[in-house]
Amino acid sequence: MSYVIGIDLGTGSVKALLVNKQGELCGEASRSYPLMQPQAGYSEQDPEHWVEQTVEALRALLEQTKVSPDEVEGISFSGQMHGLVLLDAEGRVLRPAILWNDTRTTPQCRRIESVLGERLLAETKNAALEGFTLPKLLWVQEHEPELLARAAVFLLPKDYLRYRITGSLHMDLSDAAGTLLLNVTGANWSDEICEAFGLDRKLCPPLVGSLEQTGTVQPEFASRSGLSTSTRVFAGGADNACGAVGAGIVEAGAALCSIGTSGVLLSYEEQDRDFGGKLHFFNHAQPGTYYAMGVTLAAGYSLDWLKKTVAPDETFDAFVAAAGEVPVGSGGLLFTPYLVGERTPHADSAIRGSFIGLDGSHRREHLTRAVLEGITFSLNESVERLREAGVKVGTIVSIGGGAKSELWLQMQADIFDASVVSLENEQGPALGAAMLAAVGSGWFDNLRDCASVFVHRARTFEPNKERAAVYQELFQLYRDVYESTRELNHKLHAFR
Ligand code: XUL
Repeated sequence: MSYVIGIDLGTGSVKALLVNKQGELCGEASRSYPLMQPQAGYSEQDPEHWVEQTVEALRALLEQTKVSPDEVEGISFSGQMHGLVLLDAEGRVLRPAILWNDTRTTPQCRRIESVLGERLLAETKNAALEGFTLPKLLWVQEHEPELLARAAVFLLPKDYLRYRITGSLHMDLSDAAGTLLLNVTGANWSDEICEAFGLDRKLCPPLVGSLEQTGTVQPEFASRSGLSTSTRVFAGGADNACGAVGAGIVEAGAALCSIGTSGVLLSYEEQDRDFGGKLHFFNHAQPGTYYAMGVTLAAGYSLDWLKKTVAPDETFDAFVAAAGEVPVGSGGLLFTPYLVGERTPHADSAIRGSFIGLDGSHRREHLTRAVLEGITFSLNESVERLREAGVKVGTIVSIGGGAKSELWLQMQADIFDASVVSLENEQGPALGAAMLAAVGSGWFDNLRDCASVFVHRARTFEPNKERAAVYQELFQLYRDVYESTRELNHKLHAFR
């Protein structure tokens, strides 16, 4: 038999999936690692933990499935985006990785905007956000200049992991797109941006496509993990690109709604399109294509927060299902899911959430429904940005927490006013990574052919005209809440 392995290097854990040529899941193992928050707003990880825990997950996967290592033809990766890993000339890690959810870099973002002005969007297609990599590099330049002077190269998390497996330094385009140092449509590093900030161009590693082979497993890593030195290693992609691949978002008209801790609304794009920085615009894992993406920072997080706060002992399913007992619009209650600030469409780290319209007659179920609706309204802001830019949002594949409840799937169809589809074999970004290895290994000519074998759609939810019309009205009110509460929240910031 022949297999591939997809490795998803996430923020909390690493997951390894073993998949055969039919796209069947033959085994799965995951291991977690800690997040370090030495100061408010800081979020760091030790890259060595990624390597150690990937070794453990691979050992467990091979032991539990009894697959011979030589049968694993290829491995590839999906990775948490944007995290800065700095290496010296000997390939040693210089400091803990600064992660995508670290928010220390607001001053650096303002500096990027004032130095580059309109050139930022022209070069990178993206706005300067705290989570992206360039602001982190500039933070190190300002606060740890002696350390930057010793740096030979920077990598992103999964590129570091792959470096430890193959011994060669690369970054794939879909992840490089989230650094703010890439000319996204030219698919090359921006000399202009490096020069503008006095960054040595040599810090930027060689670029590769997601499907390209970057080496084989080095003997040392093979003996630790149990992998074979004959297994081919493919570049892999950003977690959002791989999540899209794993959900079959590899052709025009396809879009994805993924609700985890944060929520992502993403559409496949075949050519350059201008969203004025309101949505992210990144290179896709499928060569020569892109995706546009909006992010709701506290999506599943908002629902978890409510459940923990008001119904800690109930099962999740029962808690969510009870929201079906109250009508569309939650009896006049609106919720904005800004519990940790927001990204799309309001890049605002100080905004916080609200319940608007609380009434003495509201029960817990009204709060739950309002939270589900608020999260979906927030994602609908991204759907609206796509439509405004001329994207025809046809079918939206829904994965993650939002696909676990029929109530919520139907709500998505009604609020997005689009067909919403659930999947039979949802495995997230790790499956996308396995698909990159499958295409890289030559099992399929392209990701589209692979998706037709690996990805199976389950049910389709069509919008209900009456409910969609009510939600349209409510959405207009929902949108007003941000402007109406912004100043209050910015003033309250001082009391937090
Ligand atoms: C994307 C982003 C997150 C991380 C999570 O811009 O910041 O989705 O990729 O891993």
